[in-house]
Amino acid sequence: MAAETTLMLSFVAAGDHVLVSRNTYGGTYRFFSKILANFGVTFDYVDTTDAEAVRKAVTPATRMLFVETPRTRRWRSPTSRRSRTSRAPRGSASARRSASSSTNTFATPFFQKPLALGCDAVVHSTTKYLNGHSDSVGGAIVCADPKDGEKIGFAQNAAGGILSPFDSFLVSRGIKTLPVRMKAHDTNGRAVAAWLARHPKVLKVFYPGLPAHPGHAIASRQMTGFGGMISFDLGSEAAARRLLDRVVVCSLGESLGGVESLISHPATMTHASVEPEERLRRGITPGLVRVSVGIEDVEDILADLENALAGV
Ligand SMILES: Cc1ncc(COP(=O)(O)O)c(C=O)c1O
Repeated sequence: MAAETTLMLSFVAAGDHVLVSRNTYGGTYRFFSKILANFGVTFDYVDTTDAEAVRKAVTPATRMLFVETPRTRRWRSPTSRRSRTSRAPRGSASARRSASSSTNTFATPFFQKPLALGCDAVVHSTTKYLNGHSDSVGGAIVCADPKDGEKIGFAQNAAGGILSPFDSFLVSRGIKTLPVRMKAHDTNGRAVAAWLARHPKVLKVFYPGLPAHPGHAIASRQMTGFGGMISFDLGSEAAARRLLDRVVVCSLGESLGGVESLISHPATMTHASVEPEERLRRGITPGLVRVSVGIEDVEDILADLENALAGV
């Protein structure tokens, strides 16, 4: 969130309009709607898989397209390049007064490279896969143009969104094993998603690696792996609660991307600050469960889920 704060302080001001992926992280929605909106910045949430919808939502005041991909409920592709280049001249975002940014927390640069897809800036929560050990909280912004970098650095210094030396050390230690960890998350993620898709108590599974997923084709073109983030629907909050109460290998937690498997209930955790109707519109149903598949022996993860589902 410090990285997102710094990004917004660097590129938007009162009177600006920002287009955001509809199903963005609940904390991002909270920051935009409950904090930045008080400073005269306006936000619209659009389906960023629909380039026409994005184009239609652009106004003369639109300053930024903020895309999060992949996401909790559905995998969506960034349409930023088309949306951005249709109106923006080349050069730094600072110079041309329009920017596209992508949050790449779930995929990491190991599987997806938004700068190569046309984004100006990429935001990561380093709390997740980049650090990978769930022992540090932080963020990073990566940008294509050094001028944008200077602007971000200035805002960071001025506003104070910095990482402590020890946390910086932890993240730099974690990044050294990013490729090995991501390959393991991906192997386990594919196995768990395929297993869940076959389970009779699971109504629906959301994982870009499943051929039935609407984003599968574009994910296969755009990403070199699908990672370990899966969500699935059990049909009701009661069913989700029973599962969450019974898991042992998967720990209940809002975070994600650590070597240990974490499981969460988006409607009451990550997306609790999104209004109930808006939450449903975004596909965050009461029975939705999200699992961040760790790098444990996959048989242990499957046995844990099997045992927990038996109680549902
Ligand atoms: C996509 C996304 N963005 C931002 C955040 C917030 O990150 P942090 O907890 O590092 O501030 C999260 C945390 O779950 C997330 O999933």
